[in-house]
Amino acid sequence: MNGYFSWVGGKKALREEVVRRFPLEVPRYIEVFGGAGWVFFHKDPSPFEVYNDYNRHLSNLFHCVQEEPEALIAQLRYAINARSGFEWICSALDQELPAAPVKRAAWFYQRLRFSYAAGLRSYACQPHDLWTDFPLIRNANRRLKDTIVENQDFERLIRHYDQPDSLFYCDPPYHGTEDYYQNLGKEGFPEGDHIRLRDTLLTIQGKFLLSYNDDTFVRQLYAAPGIQIEPVTRLNNLRQRYETGSQFPELLIANYDMTQRRKAGEQLALF
Ligand SMILES: C[S@@+](CC[C@H](N)C(=O)[O-])C[C@H]1O[C@@H](n2cnc3c(N)ncnc32)[C@H](O)[C@@H]1O
Repeated sequence: MNGYFSWVGGKKALREEVVRRFPLEVPRYIEVFGGAGWVFFHKDPSPFEVYNDYNRHLSNLFHCVQEEPEALIAQLRYAINARSGFEWICSALDQELPAAPVKRAAWFYQRLRFSYAAGLRSYACQPHDLWTDFPLIRNANRRLKDTIVENQDFERLIRHYDQPDSLFYCDPPYHGTEDYYQNLGKEGFPEGDHIRLRDTLLTIQGKFLLSYNDDTFVRQLYAAPGIQIEPVTRLNNLRQRYETGSQFPELLIANYDMTQRRKAGEQLALF
């Protein structure tokens, strides 16, 4: 099963597919389920951008990368990759031990980096030199300079930023993997949230692009007039370890013509 960020390798291929299906112009970009920001950091910057995640630890980490990168790096400089430290950090975060935002961000960063498959739960028992991450933190700081970092439930966020020129990119917890998101201060992401997301997206003035796992429930949810559904596949990260080339079927769903960029690219060809 997927850990928190264990989808990353396969997602690298998927993010190309996602960005190729963006509208030609993206004046207002809102990443609703930001996670590690794999699409956010890959796309070209837009004049107006929002990164959001309902996980307060993740959103706090993005805030600290944006506002206090050197303080965060200072906290990480002498971090020790050991099981006892990892377990202490997990319990400090779970029990909400009072600490300054930058300290909490450093704990959460270590929890991500030192856990198995970035799943946040069990200790990875793998060497990882945090010093090699410092240039990444500084690059992320520059990229986030003009970004609004939010920590909202998706419905409130979408309603707040909805305008005809907004593009909402949504990568929600996959249908069937909802239990992984229980550390959010509410009961994970149950079926009702998938329906609430659909009801919100189908009533916006702006555009949305959604990536989901390909299953009957999701296909039925978005079988509505004016909605495009395109199946794509990506390498299945975890299965890859014992089944080379294993693919994971996904759906890209949008309320606009997803072929705009590809058509524009074809028209630009010399021959
Ligand atoms: C599949 S992951 C997103 C992956 C992300 N695109 C990336 O590149 O890493 C889903 C994310 O949705 C967040 N999330 C869960 N419930 C949410 C909600 N109600 N509103 C906003 N974000 C939520 C989780 O914390 C998690 O980071």
